[in-house]
Amino acid sequence: MSQEQDKIFFRNFSLILAFIAAMMVAFYIIADMVTKHGENADALNNSISVNELTKPVGKAALAGREEENNQNEIVADTASNNGESVYNGLCVNCHGIAALASMIPQAGDATAWKTRIGKGMDSLYSNAINGYTGEMGMMPARGGNPNLTDDEVKAAVDYIVNLSQ
Ligand code: HEC
Repeated sequence: MSQEQDKIFFRNFSLILAFIAAMMVAFYIIADMVTKHGENADALNNSISVNELTKPVGKAALAGREEENNQNEIVADTASNNGESVYNGLCVNCHGIAALASMIPQAGDATAWKTRIGKGMDSLYSNAINGYTGEMGMMPARGGNPNLTDDEVKAAVDYIVNLSQ
């Protein structure tokens, strides 16, 4: 190799090294962002406000109505005494999200419900109505909607239990 060729080789080689170094920095930044993002998501999962989670799903369907004030009306309108509607309007936000299975007993998960069901329906009703903090976390009173009647909450409990046997 002539000296001239050596120079060219070293110049190209340095460029490649610089490029690799730049890529490493870029990957580091991306990895950092991704991890931070993951952490935030976890923090979010753990601190999702009850309000957020208890927003009735049906809300979006009622176009043209005032959003804030009618949460309870919706439950009253659509649920009357139907456990499935109460569940779908509220409880599903916590008990119907498979990704939360480690934090909240999911409807349909027989393993998660076995010992709970074993406590007897009366305990489940009263814990759902009055709220309950157990090993997994906090079950808000009436799922967070104080305007649900006892019967509506009980019907929703029945619905969850039926799915989870
Ligand atoms: C904000 C989330 C959230 C909402 C909304 C919610 N739950 Fe729960 N629920 C929980 C958590 C968390 C637990 C588990 C508490 C524990 O055992 O640590 C639980 C537990 C329960 C239990 C078992 C109680 C026991 O004694 O083991 C019942 C029954 C129940 N929920 C019914 C309902 C019904 C009915 C609704 C809707 C009206 C509802 N939940 C809405 C979070 C929620």
